[in-house]
Amino acid sequence: MDLKIPQKPKVLVVGSGGREHALIWKLSQSPHQPRLYAAPGNPGMAERAELLPWPSGETAELIQLIKDYSIDLVVVGPEAPLAAGLVDACLAEGIRAFGPTQAGARLESSKAFAKGLMADAGIPTAASQTFVDAAIAKAYIRQQGAPIVVKADGLAAGKGVVVATTVAEAEAAVEDMLAGGRFGQAGSQVVIESFLRGREVSLMFFVDNKTAVAMIPARDYKRVQEGDMGPNTGGMGAIAPVPDVDAATLVDEVTWRIVQPLRKRLQALDIAYRGVLYVGLMLTAEGPYVVEYNCRFGDPETQVVLPLLDSDLLEVLWAVTADRLAELPLRWRQDTAVCVVLAAPGYPEQPRVGTEIQWPGADSMADSPLLFHAGTAWSLQASQRLLQTAGGRVMGAVGMAPDVENARRIAYALSDQIYFEGKHLRRDIGL
Ligand code: AMP
Ligand code: GLY
Repeated sequence: MDLKIPQKPKVLVVGSGGREHALIWKLSQSPHQPRLYAAPGNPGMAERAELLPWPSGETAELIQLIKDYSIDLVVVGPEAPLAAGLVDACLAEGIRAFGPTQAGARLESSKAFAKGLMADAGIPTAASQTFVDAAIAKAYIRQQGAPIVVKADGLAAGKGVVVATTVAEAEAAVEDMLAGGRFGQAGSQVVIESFLRGREVSLMFFVDNKTAVAMIPARDYKRVQEGDMGPNTGGMGAIAPVPDVDAATLVDEVTWRIVQPLRKRLQALDIAYRGVLYVGLMLTAEGPYVVEYNCRFGDPETQVVLPLLDSDLLEVLWAVTADRLAELPLRWRQDTAVCVVLAAPGYPEQPRVGTEIQWPGADSMADSPLLFHAGTAWSLQASQRLLQTAGGRVMGAVGMAPDVENARRIAYALSDQIYFEGKHLRRDIGL
């Protein structure tokens, strides 16, 4: 199929985490031989992409860079630039961009908005109410009882959700968000919803204005400690496909009960959506329920899903921006991928960064295995370049094999080759 992709297209990936490194890695395998850029990117991406400094993080500055470099396709990784309207700004300038507009990104940037759409469309999700007043919210909590879930309405980097086991805990969370200003504007409205019981699965879809195509189901390990203990993190690891889930059945149910009704509602609201729709699911006794929507690739789910994609990612992303996804059959490998996140000491509360990272391939990144950088940075010491920790989630080590055991073995063998002070990881990813 001819997508009219230019010769050696210039592709910019926006973001600097493990997800974006995985995107760069996969795009670098494209037969179209794209010239890759990342803004601001990280050291792991530098072997395959030119890193463009983006000091302000402002949309206008990035648009100027995109024009200066004559970028043919912009791929947006994180939610913040999507919610800030980066794709709207690109489209206004005639720049091809993968990701929803600001209006579509509201699925993630406002939980109240997402809940409203789901209610209108009859999509299975926890019953909920939205509040701006702490006293009324607390009265509702006392009436409902515990367990109950309190969520900041806006973007809170995965930290705005409290699954409260007691009424007191839920009341404290409301107090924190509505009265205490814990998440600023993002927490000036809270969604309180009923507690869902079950196992969690992440199912991502490529979506354009004609169709939605599911990727491989993945599971994210959100708690910091083994056995799902301790506080929530951005994700300590992932596996795909999910061994205890029948993928075909799940994709079918989610497509017809959750994704198609949502797309209809978006169309009715005149919201064009081109990009990834991430559906966070709870597999309850009554079937899959939506826990959350994200308007982008998941992190670390992307680090296990993209290695399984056999098709050319560049063509897939391009087809989405042209509303031609339906013409492009996606091919997947029959393997399992496991990602183990190596975290900095103190993560998620107060990660301590700036310590040296040692690993065997440190000097020759070119032949690196599936090791995706997230919170890393170069530092110059005595004219020597040293790799340092620079964020809570430092790296993700991925193993891919025909079976879970070997995928785990490879991922942990790689994890154990990397050293930095206070490194911690979960040993139960994929078990
Ligand atoms: P979210 O950021 O909305 O995905 O929430 C973070 C985590 O909180 C989810 O991955 C779930 O583990 C948990 N969670 C969120 N909503 C509920 C719910 N209604 N019932 C049970 N657990 C939930
Ligand atoms: N892994 C969860 C997320 O990307 O939001």
